[in-house]
Amino acid sequence: MAQIIQGTEDLYGADMRAWQRMTDIARELFGSYGFDPIETPAIEQVDTFVHGIGESTDVVRKEMFRVFSGALLPEVMERGSEAHLKPRQRMALRPEGTAGVVRSAVENNFVPQGGAPAKLWYAEAMFRGERPQKGRLRQFHQVGLEWLGAPDPAADAECIIVLMEYFKRLGFDPSQLRLVINSMGDASCRPAYRDSVRQFILDHADEMCEDCLERAELNPLRAFDCKNAHCREVMEAAPKIDGALCDDCRAHYAQVKRYLDEAGIAYEEDPTLVRGLDYYTRTVFEVEVTGAKVGAIGGGGRYDGLMELEGGKPTPGIGFAVGFERIHLALKELGIDLAGEAPGCVYVACMPSERSAAFSATLALRQAGVRTEADYQGRSLKAQFKQANRLGARLCVVLGTDEVAAGVATVRDMVSHDQVQVPLTELASFVAERV
Ligand code: HAM
Repeated sequence: MAQIIQGTEDLYGADMRAWQRMTDIARELFGSYGFDPIETPAIEQVDTFVHGIGESTDVVRKEMFRVFSGALLPEVMERGSEAHLKPRQRMALRPEGTAGVVRSAVENNFVPQGGAPAKLWYAEAMFRGERPQKGRLRQFHQVGLEWLGAPDPAADAECIIVLMEYFKRLGFDPSQLRLVINSMGDASCRPAYRDSVRQFILDHADEMCEDCLERAELNPLRAFDCKNAHCREVMEAAPKIDGALCDDCRAHYAQVKRYLDEAGIAYEEDPTLVRGLDYYTRTVFEVEVTGAKVGAIGGGGRYDGLMELEGGKPTPGIGFAVGFERIHLALKELGIDLAGEAPGCVYVACMPSERSAAFSATLALRQAGVRTEADYQGRSLKAQFKQANRLGARLCVVLGTDEVAAGVATVRDMVSHDQVQVPLTELASFVAERV
């Protein structure tokens, strides 16, 4: 029997309704902040991710699903390398949405020099080759937004405000959420800070794990997030970014915090919050649910250098993404239902001899916008009533021989069992008014 891949999920029924609700709420809320929807391809050139997310990140080094067309795969396997391939032949499934949106913004010139910012949101599947566990999948879904061309700290604050409002509309109470923020500095202050952390790790080499020693060279700031508790303990004494920010970064961060205070958004500062993607500059943030162990449900930050890394003109950017599966898990743990009830319907039941009258009635009801079901298996009237109940029908339209001969239908309320006869010519408007 064919089997689903571990770390992937089929979305149907209540899960699908929950995902649709998440995207509906995003469309409405993000639309009110001026964001337009975008969909970029699920496969991009590897370079789009390598340039943007960073060669030294776990996402790029270990988690990207590489894609080779069937024609190229034997050649790559035989040579044991893809070095001979052209950049456009080296592809990967997107591990996140930002790099692709920024690639698209560069290619389509969404932010012309001197033009207005581009404000885009997306709801898409992402792919990371991580070890599957609760809240960690290989194919998962993100709702995210990207705001390109806005350097002002108000954009950082508004991004966080819209994120927290989104969580509220999904059903979280703000008291159940923990928002953590930090500034990661920029190209003028981070390199020196990075070196000081690298030096700290090397000075404590005998106390750190192999991974952290590798990080010292590749990505020293990730040592703050090491899975090894002892490394994290050692890193408590490492230099922190808040003491290393340049004046501009410090002023930007202070203004972001003033705006958040004004908007009444509660946050905690964590100078070790570094995030797993290399493109961030200045403000970064992450949100956790205090009462549910599902990991971060959302995160984001500013990425003022990313447009250039993707081949565009210098253009600031900021955005966030939230993970659908983790939000769904957290809401379930908190006893909050995101999916809502399955939609009800009207069922058209008929004597087998009245099939064509049922066809016409079904057609008219659907044209009136009523979700309508009928029998397509030639079942008895009794079996059709059972099916109507199983489908959660609120009304059942019954077409027996006598009714059809008299030009009427019996409309039965499936809860109260009251029934009335309605002329077939008025059936659609009668039913539409009652559902
Ligand atoms: P991220 O923090 O890597 O950021 O992912 C955002 C959210 O996606 C996470 O908080 C988590 O809820 C969810 N997520 C990540 N990996 C998995 C996984 N393997 N399984 C289930 N859920 C997962 C980004 O992706 C950035 N692009 C966000 C951003 C947008 N920054 C600026 N603009």
